[in-house]
Order: sequence, then C-alpha cells, then structure tokens
Amino acid sequence: MSRSDLIRRRSVLAGLGSLPALALAGCDAPAPITRKVLSMQGREVLLLVSAQPTTDGAGVKLSRSLGTRELEMLDPFLMLDEFHTDRAEDYLAGFPDHPHRGFETVTYMIHGAMEHRDSLGNQGRLGPGSVQWMTAGSGIIHSEMPKQVSGLMWGFQLWVNLPAKLKMTRPRYQDLAPETIPETQIGDATVRVLAGLAGGKRGPVEGIVTDPLMLDVTVPAAGTFQQPIPADHNAFLYVFDGSIDIGPGRRRANRGQIAVLGPGEGVTAASESSGRFLLLAGKPIGEPVARYGPFVMNTKEEIRQALDDYQSGRLVKS
Ligand code: CO
Repeated sequence: MSRSDLIRRRSVLAGLGSLPALALAGCDAPAPITRKVLSMQGREVLLLVSAQPTTDGAGVKLSRSLGTRELEMLDPFLMLDEFHTDRAEDYLAGFPDHPHRGFETVTYMIHGAMEHRDSLGNQGRLGPGSVQWMTAGSGIIHSEMPKQVSGLMWGFQLWVNLPAKLKMTRPRYQDLAPETIPETQIGDATVRVLAGLAGGKRGPVEGIVTDPLMLDVTVPAAGTFQQPIPADHNAFLYVFDGSIDIGPGRRRANRGQIAVLGPGEGVTAASESSGRFLLLAGKPIGEPVARYGPFVMNTKEEIRQALDDYQSGRLVKS
C-alpha cells in the first residue's frame, strides 16, 4: 500500500466517529494509531430491489434480482437468479442445450440436484451445498437438467463478466463438492466460504480475474456479522431466508430482496429473527457491455460474431 493510500484511508476513517466499529479480521487497514483508525467504513445500502418472477431455460420458474430492467448489472456481476420450488412442473423442463460466450456462470445448490453436460464431454452432478464456477470464455454449449422428479429444488445461478482480454479464453470448470467448501463462524454467523477470504478461511474457487468474494451467511436471531470488503470492489447482498438489517443504518432487506452496497471498506449485518443471504463482492471491469441472451461481449459486432459462430457450429473450439 502506498503512502498516499494510507493518508487517504486515514482521512476517510477519521470522519467516521458516528459509525460503529467493525472487527478488523482479515482487513488490510493500516496499523492502528488512534481508535478511529481501528474502525472500518461500514457500507450502507445504496439500493434495495425485490426480485422479479421470470422463466428461463425450457420454462423453469425463477426469481431474478440482478439483470432486470430495474437493476441491469452491478459490474462485474451481470445476473442473479434464485430457483426455489417444490412443484416439479416448475423445474422439470430444466435448461436443455444452450450456448455461452464471454463470461462466467456460477451455480450454487442449496437443496436438490442438477446434472450438467457440455459440448466438450464434461459431465457432473451438482448436489446440495456444491458450487460450479464455469468460465465459458470462447464458448461452450451445455445443459443443466434436474436430477430429481419431485421434491424441493433450491439454488442460484450467478453470471460474472470477463474483461475483453479474457472473453475468448479457453473454457474452464471448477466443480466443487460440499465438503471442499470451508465453514467458519464470523461474529454470531455461520459462513460458508465459496470464494475469497473470510474468517481466516479461503474458498476453493480460485484464479478468477475479478477476485470475487462469495459467502453464504446464516445469521441467527439477534445475531450480528461483519466482513471486510476491498474499497474498490462492488458488493451486494441477496437475502434468501428471513430478514437482515444491513449497514450502520440497519436498512432491512427481506427474503427475495437484493441490497446493493455503497462505498466503504466492509459490511455489517444483523438479524432480529434470523436470516440467510449471499454476499458477493468483485472488482469492477469498467468496460462496455454488449449482451444478448447467453452472450456477453464488449461490442455489438462481437455479439453478431458469437451468433454467427453458434449458428454455423463454430462456437465451440475443439
Ligand atoms: Co448455462
């Protein structure tokens, strides 16, 4: 960290006398000089948006919180869908063969199981608690189909952008079984660390250019949680059970709501009667985004190229 960074950070921290102190675990703040320096700027909720019901794939019912007209994207995050239903007719049709190019898709299962297959011959089962981080890069064609005919199906799909220099990178999978995902206590919360560093544990997803933090956080009744987030990363919470009060202002987010966080060096959360959420943070890419269906590029011309490659059977490089 440069000296000017230190000075800037101290001056930011110095103005925060009224904000509650946050634990410094894992925080790269400068060495403490006064008590004020020990506190971290807690991010406030900038925007609170309810997920919209939608369908995708061959008719799977979803709640979309990111990638809607109301909230198009939060660089580098492009889309967040939650599927949560015990009506088989809502999910049985699954996501048959479809292409992707130019970004990453992340599937995280809470309950139930999906099977994925792709054009390169990869195949795998995603069961409860597992995560798949797929770098589509130059192109894949894959399917994600339910591996059950009844019962609860509950999980998420997140889309994360790639910078221009990596949009045509070789496709890569990280398929991570539940037991490879560390669990830790932070404050009163139980935290599964999928990607990034939290509570002294590092998530198994690695080598992702946007340096993501992805946590599944369960806060018990009357419990609290805090987590440092690099000041230059964008971040959001998506509450998928109960309710969570976020930031020094304790803005309440209920189940099915996404809370975009403002600037700061960390996040605090509390819950009156328990809640569970995904916390996502990542380094913004800051490039133009051209998106069309399953393709996310920088320009319209590159989208036309992707469509042309797909239609002529050249999307997948062998
Ligand atoms: Co897909």
